[in-house]
Amino acid sequence: MKTLVFESLPSTNDYLKEHFQQLDHLTCCEVKHQTKGKGRLGRIWEDDQTQALFSILLKEGLYPSLLSQIPFYTARIVHQILSKKVEKVTIKWPNDLYIKDKKVAGILIESIIEANQIQAIIVGIGINVNTEIFPNHFRQEPTSLFQEVGIKQDISELIDQITTSFETQWPIQSKEEIYLYINQFSYLHGKMIEFERNQQVLQGLVKEILFDGSLLVQTETQTLQLYSGEVSSIKKR
Ligand code: BTN
Repeated sequence: MKTLVFESLPSTNDYLKEHFQQLDHLTCCEVKHQTKGKGRLGRIWEDDQTQALFSILLKEGLYPSLLSQIPFYTARIVHQILSKKVEKVTIKWPNDLYIKDKKVAGILIESIIEANQIQAIIVGIGINVNTEIFPNHFRQEPTSLFQEVGIKQDISELIDQITTSFETQWPIQSKEEIYLYINQFSYLHGKMIEFERNQQVLQGLVKEILFDGSLLVQTETQTLQLYSGEVSSIKKR
């Protein structure tokens, strides 16, 4: 995959969004530091220059249902590569990567739609690689590969492994295979979670991730499908 490397950018997702017309399908944008890194749900993605920060541009063979499949396709690839380096990596629905109970990576998918057509999809990935100590204001407790394995990693090499795997496996061959994989390594599987529905906080047991990307949850009174937003798992004491 062709990779453009920068020292600093506001956001690799924004760079690809702004330049997608001139760039090729499967171009990667990699950066050492972002000044306006973006997370899901309008959040900020902070970095201390020890993360893998990169985005992949997709322009060919795009169709609407890909938008719900790409988060899982990407999470599986990141999971496969991280699992070669560290044990107990899981995928927290919809697309965070966890090691034990801490977040090690996040994925932000954005799309450009014009005249009802998907022009481009941008897959942004942030991985905590060599962070030694995190400040203590994170919503989801973070960890880094360094904290887990005690060895500093080559960030560009890690990005290269992920983009190569992304390109080799592209386009999506088997949706079924991806969903089986995601369910096999699902962090939330069998956990009691808390979520919001109609301004009410509810609790339920996670059953599985369905083909449309939703999370199937069993509450005391009903079975519900959650489509996005936040869920937190309830720790048993
Ligand atoms: C999340 O967990 O909320 C998603 C985080 C995604 C962060 C990456 S870092 C590279 C790319 N550029 C961005 O601005 N965000 C994504």
